[in-house]
Amino acid sequence: MKGKVQIFTYGCQMNDLDSQKIYSSLAGLGYNETTDSENADVIILNTCSVRKKAEEKTLSNLGRLKYLKKKRPGVTIIVTGCVAQQEGEALIAKMPYIDAVVGTHQLHRIPEIVQNVRESRSQEIHTAFSEFIPSLELIPEKSFIRPGHRAYINIMQGCDNYCSYCIVPYVRGREISRDWRNVIDEVRIHAERGVKEIFLLGQNVNSYAGGISFGALLKKIAEVDGITRIRFTTSHPKDVSPELIDCFASLDNLCSHIHLPFQSGSDKVLKAMNRNYTFDSYLRLVSELRKARPDIAFSADTMVGFSTETDDDFRRTLDLIEAVRFDVLYSFKYSPRPGTVAAGIEDDVPIELKKERLSILQTIQNRITLEINRSRAGQTFEVLVDGPSQKNPSQIFGRTTHNTIVNFVGPLSLVGHEAVVKITRGNKNTLTGEVV
Ligand code: 5AD
Ligand code: SF4
Repeated sequence: MKGKVQIFTYGCQMNDLDSQKIYSSLAGLGYNETTDSENADVIILNTCSVRKKAEEKTLSNLGRLKYLKKKRPGVTIIVTGCVAQQEGEALIAKMPYIDAVVGTHQLHRIPEIVQNVRESRSQEIHTAFSEFIPSLELIPEKSFIRPGHRAYINIMQGCDNYCSYCIVPYVRGREISRDWRNVIDEVRIHAERGVKEIFLLGQNVNSYAGGISFGALLKKIAEVDGITRIRFTTSHPKDVSPELIDCFASLDNLCSHIHLPFQSGSDKVLKAMNRNYTFDSYLRLVSELRKARPDIAFSADTMVGFSTETDDDFRRTLDLIEAVRFDVLYSFKYSPRPGTVAAGIEDDVPIELKKERLSILQTIQNRITLEINRSRAGQTFEVLVDGPSQKNPSQIFGRTTHNTIVNFVGPLSLVGHEAVVKITRGNKNTLTGEVV
């Protein structure tokens, strides 16, 4: 049975890649992609539950699909990803028009599930965890890697850290790493297809344990012919090894950027979050990384209003932001997640105070980002060109080693190549430049 499939993706880059894999496996059955729900035969929601807001977005979109199903009972609706894993059967009990719920370890079964549902109209629930996740090993077809010169590769999934606020260990399961030989095989396949940048993905890439250490894996990837850039996300500060720091000193094709979520600057809050580092040890790590790679750019995640966070605790977060000077900072209001340790502690910071702290934090960060971007004016960077600029179609855009977007005038023939670009202006979130 062929047809058209539409996938809605919520949340992180891991989900983006999972969606590409789902497309790819359904394309093998003859399915085409559509962006129009009105003519889709199969609609898949690949969901995220890391924060309450993400989960609510999924649930409200699912609510809307109820009317589509009423109008076209033949459409197949599948929910996968973290909300599917978390809610399981409860999701179908609440929304009986859902045809299948597929957990985070069962993505490889989606083609078979789609067939079953469409042939027999059965409802299916698959949320078991397993020791081996077949979809981790799946390589999506070239056409599903967007754009074609960058490949995202899963090297591990899950998390063993149990930060007290975080639902990830419960919905993605324990850490499972891919064997390093499979990872290298995949890197080679991409390199032969012309991919230049390898972007390694996992909830905790730096506790990778697929037969060799994460640092050793980076070194092996760096040796593959044709690979000019390597990036990875997400890393935990407590697991940044001396070997990983050394990679920034020794590997030219490792990009000058690390995403290193810190969550809070207060030692008291960090302890309550079960993060296993302190304000001082985080700053020491930053300075060791800067010693290894002086121009390294930092990005991070942080949250405000974790249970018991006082004004003084919040001030430590601001101190840390000023001390590190992140290029980019993703900041969130804490929201209790079901089943986590922190959900058992009173969420005692009023929502208005959370909003106020977030706004203060973002104002400071916006200033720092602008200052850093402005300081780039006059510097020259190699920019791997991604495509036509979104805002100004007469320009193209790409990313620097620091992962900053640069818009500049140039031919589309540069897409997929590294252009040498001189920065003429630093903006709020991007740089403007001209080809040298
Ligand atoms: N509330 C708010 N933010 C959260 N994050 C994770 N769990 C929560 C939560 N319960 C944030 C963290 C993490 C990012 C992916 O989402 O900052 O790094
Ligand atoms: Fe969640 Fe902490 Fe694991 Fe990150 S390291 S996924 S924040 S439990």
